Formats: sequence, C-alpha cells, structure tokens
Amino acid sequence: MNYNKKTVRDVDVKGRKVLLRCDFNVPMAKDGSGVITDDKRIRAALPTIQYLLDQGAAVIACSHMGKPEPDFEKWVKKQTEKGKDPASLTREKWEKSLEALRMEPVAKRLSELLGREVILAGGTDVVGPDAQAKAAALQPGGIMLLQNTRYAKGETKNDPELAKAMAALAGPDGLYVSDAFGAVHRAHASTAGVAAFLPAVSGFLIQKELDFIGGALANPKRPLVAILGGSKVSSKIGVINNLLEIADTIIIGGGMAYTFASAQGGSVGDSLLEEDWKSYSLEMVQKARDKGVRLLLPVDTVIADKFAPDADSKVVPNGQIPDGWQGLDIGPETVKLYCDAVKDAGTVIWNGPMGVFEFEKFAAGTKAVAEALSKTEAITIIGGGDSAAAVQQLGYAGQMTHISTGGGASLEFMEGKELPGVACLLDK
Ligand code: 3PG
Repeated sequence: MNYNKKTVRDVDVKGRKVLLRCDFNVPMAKDGSGVITDDKRIRAALPTIQYLLDQGAAVIACSHMGKPEPDFEKWVKKQTEKGKDPASLTREKWEKSLEALRMEPVAKRLSELLGREVILAGGTDVVGPDAQAKAAALQPGGIMLLQNTRYAKGETKNDPELAKAMAALAGPDGLYVSDAFGAVHRAHASTAGVAAFLPAVSGFLIQKELDFIGGALANPKRPLVAILGGSKVSSKIGVINNLLEIADTIIIGGGMAYTFASAQGGSVGDSLLEEDWKSYSLEMVQKARDKGVRLLLPVDTVIADKFAPDADSKVVPNGQIPDGWQGLDIGPETVKLYCDAVKDAGTVIWNGPMGVFEFEKFAAGTKAVAEALSKTEAITIIGGGDSAAAVQQLGYAGQMTHISTGGGASLEFMEGKELPGVACLLDK
C-alpha cells in the first residue's frame, strides 16, 4: 500500500468547503447522561480542524458513533439473535437506541475545545434538508457537525448515492479530508466512497499514524521487536504472520500464549485455549525458525483459581498449569526475558496486553513491559485498543513515541492489509 498521500498542506483550502471525516467514536458514560468519558479522539482531530479554520476553510465535520442500526426490521432481527424477546422490541426502544448515539455531546465538547460555536445538524437524516441548509450557509472559518453517519442506511454499505450526497454538502469546489484513522479500515460511504466525488487528502492525524506505523513496518530502525498479546491467536494471526516477515524478534504474551503452550504439549488447565488454532501456532513457530526470527514464548505464568480480581494466585512453569487453574499473566522469569529483549531494540511495536491488566493482581507483566518500553531509546509504537488503554491506565502514555488512535485500524495496518480509507486518498 502506498502511504505517501497528499495532505491538507498540499492543496489550497482557502474559501473552500471541506467535508472532514473524523473518528469521534468516543466512549460515553453508561448511565445515558451523555458524558464523554474520554475525549482523546476529539482532541486528536484538533490540529487538522484548527489548521483548516485558520486557512479560511469552512469545515463540515462528520463521524460515526457506535453501531446504530438505522433499519427497524434489521434491528429487531439483530436483537432477537442476541436472545431478546421479540415482543419487547418496540419502535420506541429502537428510537431510544438511536437517540443514545447522537452527536450532541461531541458537538458540545468540540465547541469547548475549539472555543467557538460548532453548528450541529439536527434530525437523523445525515444528508437531509437541515444538514444541506446549514452546510450551504456555512461561512469560511465556520464549523458544523453532521449527525452520526451510521444513521444513514447506506453508510456501512458504502452506497455511492449516499457518498455523492455527502460530497454535495461541500459544494462544487469542495474538498474531502480524512482524519479518521480509527475508521480507515472500514470501506464506508463517509470513509472511502466519498473520495470518488471530491478531491481527497489526509489530515495531520492520519499523516502521523501513517508515518509512525507505516514507517515502522516499511523501514524500521532495527532491531524491530514486536510484542503481541491479547486473548486470542485467531484475532492476531494476520499480525503474527505479517510481522514474521518484518521483525527481528517476536514476543508472545497474553491469553494466546496458552494456545502455543498447549500446541507444544503443555498443560494449560482452564486457561484460554483455541483448539482450532493449535496447529497454526506450531506453523508460526516453524516459520519463525525458517525466517531466522527470534520468537519468544513465556517460560512461566501467573495462575489463578478463578477469573476474578481477588483470585488465589501462584507462579508455575509454562505448560504446567493444573486443572482448575488458569493463566492470567506472564510470570517473573518471562518478564525478565521480555524486558531484556526490548532493551537494545531500535523499534518496538506493541499490540495486546500480557495479562489481565484490569485486575491489579495480574497487571505486573503488562506493567513491567510498559515500564521497559518507557526506558528504552527505541521508537515505541503502541497499537490502539487494549494496548493503548493499558499504557494509559498504568501511567506510561507520556513516555511512548506513538500511541495509535485506531484499534481495528492499527491491527489491520500491522497485518499489512490495504486500508480503504487511506487507499482512496490522492497519492503525492
Ligand atoms: C473504533 O472505535 O475502533 C473505530 O471508531 C471504528 O469503530 P467500528 O469498529 O464501530 O467501525
């Protein structure tokens, strides 16, 4: 994939209307109060927004929020599949589910951060008369926000008619700018389709993510060490496979290490295990040997008698977990081994925690790795999602070179997949 994309600096934006796709899919308080519990993604879009406004563009920002189902019948079907009683699935409940994902809280927070008014489109018709009128009246230096792009039925299907209508909001001299790194792995109307109808360039956030992650994959400062954790081998196969082509060392931790241990003949007790992925794990071990990649697996593990923060725990050698016990973290010998391996790295890519870091008792492995990363001279790149949450929660965020804003997007990037939201942008 070509990462060398035109940015907002490569085009004249003055006096133009810019349809700006952001990833404002921020976590909200569960009590329905509309309180944003983490505004990092809104802050991450500010440099691009500020630049566009300062340059005299009119900004029509848009984003998805959550996964609303805009079709009532489909909503009923999905809820029924999840085990809900069909008789309880009223239109009122469906409307409430949509209501909970409106963009009002985002518009409010964005306005506070920018220190200026953010006009918000009403209703649920993303490209309807209200959005059209507000976009038409928008002046250079002004900013508006559309409603949740996933309220539109064609959004996730990348419907060209919807993409065309979105593009039309920016008028005949319009421009499309994408800064929604967290959503570039989605081929949706607002993330990719719209680029067929407007000149399309990237904002500073996408640029930064491409520079850091793309740079680490294409031309890393060596040795390149990849630390891969998380619960399932099945969700990391693509990454392991791709990084075996690029990295010098691969470190495996988290729940997926037990599938490797079991595949190698060890006992894993009640630990997470993906039987179907055992042979794949062995293939990866073999591939590492063939490619001369150092593949490190845990040598010991912290086990628990139940999955709970107050579980009884002890340390056992890897592959020797008794029945009734489960591995929830890497052990102290493994911590030493892994921390040593990152000491002299040129670049470290980290995706996935080493254990159940949400439980204090089983956070030591993840914490030690985060601390080791904070001390190395290496370029440290943290994938979005759980790994980003771990370094933030454990207090090491400030010491990392780059923490990605995209969970699924950074994962697919590391898998070497083409990202539709990047591929659609103009090449330099
Ligand atoms: C994310 O939270 O990872 C992005 O906003 C993408 O969201 P999605 O998984 O609902 O497409």
